[in-house]
Amino acid sequence: MTDSLWYQDTVFYELYLRAYKDSNGSGSGDFRGAIEKLDHIQSLGVDCIWILPHYPSPLKDDGYDVADYYGIHPDYGSLDDFRAFLAAAHQRGLKVVIDLVMNHTSDQHPWFQAARQDRHSPYRDYYVWSDTGREYAGARIIFLDYESANWTYDEVAGQYFWHRFYSSQPDLNYDNPAVHEEMFNIIRFWLDMGIDGFRADAVPYLYEREDTNCENLPPTHAFLRKVRRMMDEEYPGRVLIAEANQWPQDLLPYFGADGDEFHMCFHFPIMPRLYMAIRRGNKQSILDILAATPDIPAGAQWLTFLRNHDELTLEMVTPDEREWMWQQYAPDPAMRSNLGIRRRLAPLIDNHKGKWLILNSILMSLIGTPIVYYGDEIGMGDNIALPDRHGCRTPMQWDDSPNGGFSPAGATYFPVNADAEYGYQRVNVAAQEDDPNSYLNATRFLLRVRRQHPELRQGQLIMLGNDDPAVFGYWRVLGDRRTLCLYNLSAEAASFSLDLRHYVGQQLVDLLHQGQTWRIAEWPIVIRLRPYASHWLHVRSET
Ligand code: BGC
Repeated sequence: MTDSLWYQDTVFYELYLRAYKDSNGSGSGDFRGAIEKLDHIQSLGVDCIWILPHYPSPLKDDGYDVADYYGIHPDYGSLDDFRAFLAAAHQRGLKVVIDLVMNHTSDQHPWFQAARQDRHSPYRDYYVWSDTGREYAGARIIFLDYESANWTYDEVAGQYFWHRFYSSQPDLNYDNPAVHEEMFNIIRFWLDMGIDGFRADAVPYLYEREDTNCENLPPTHAFLRKVRRMMDEEYPGRVLIAEANQWPQDLLPYFGADGDEFHMCFHFPIMPRLYMAIRRGNKQSILDILAATPDIPAGAQWLTFLRNHDELTLEMVTPDEREWMWQQYAPDPAMRSNLGIRRRLAPLIDNHKGKWLILNSILMSLIGTPIVYYGDEIGMGDNIALPDRHGCRTPMQWDDSPNGGFSPAGATYFPVNADAEYGYQRVNVAAQEDDPNSYLNATRFLLRVRRQHPELRQGQLIMLGNDDPAVFGYWRVLGDRRTLCLYNLSAEAASFSLDLRHYVGQQLVDLLHQGQTWRIAEWPIVIRLRPYASHWLHVRSET
């Protein structure tokens, strides 16, 4: 693998600056604080940090409403602080990817302010307007809990403007070449600063066309390919990542027919199916989505995750499956948001260590480049009393001092979680440091084993055939290296017979439970799986 393909073989860490570490007592995390915590990030064994939007913003959508693409939100510091963060991360060999919000701006962006005030302003055409608000009726509403239409009437402009998300986020008009120019300038600005790539937000929605659902349209792909071409020519080795919450067959075009669009796409649909499988004790949903996942071009890669800063999205499941997921994982309607579930990983799985290990072991060995969401490495909880998706964005819990060591301020942007099970007094980095059985050390351990075993990252994926719906297994094979990843998805013990005659004379070593070995002989090995067991069984010569 060449250096320019670094993104195919890494682990990402998703960092929410506001929540991470407050260096100046403002009650909000910032870049200087994040620098202080790079030791922690590095200690996990991740290779790349993705930071959520850091731009000046009225924060109606937590920074996904950008008011200035060239700056830093004053709560987070200055451009110099950003540069210092980037340099400090790079010094440790950590890459940094930033969010790029292309589809829309904040309504506070000077472009929109100029546009709404004057029909003849050159900025009017930066946005999408209508006299009737009736066009593009085929487009769905995404923020169903908050918006009733994709058009909002603006009194100042005397027209309706188009928005796919909050009405405080007017969509940019990509039919206007000046918008392309602006975006290219923004992209070059940050790449010149030395970042390693972009997570491009909400890319399916750039263009609108009548009689379509206004998603994944050909001109959208054409523009995105133009961005990629420029990056390849001017900034080789940087990565372009698509956030497109779509079915696998609709995702494939985002890689480009010749691998000439995005380097990486988030694989959204696999995520809810991991939760389905572990609740049902049945692997079928995972097998189905893997079967529906197409091969991707050489040089491309999936990004996989268990949780992120948004709701656990149920857009890419059937209505029946969604209902079932809500019943199982969000019995309290307050746990639901839009078409999803606004809870964190640990509470979703009832803080169950076995389930945690299965989900994380699958994440670290199945397909793609995994992402760890900040706080999930210590099993942080959520706070559903907070509105929207904020319940999963509470301050990082560093120790058991006031505010969990996050901030010396009297009041923080949102309170640190202090509940009995997941509060900072119990769940924090310091407490987990020395506990070999903690989530923190389990995360480090999984990442270390993954790093030591290239077959887990790059190997061919071969599903293990067997009849027990609860026993889920797959081989990862790279040259003569082979590891069988094996899980019992149910609360019942299972046993499994494995015919490994081809490898007689070698042994099977469990990478997840050191010391467990089996001699491989002419006859099948019987492997007994405890409830919710995880094993990575590596074939190794006896010497
Ligand atoms: C981001 C969300 C954001 C939306 C609009 C997304 O997909 O992940 O947090 O609200 O785009 O920008």
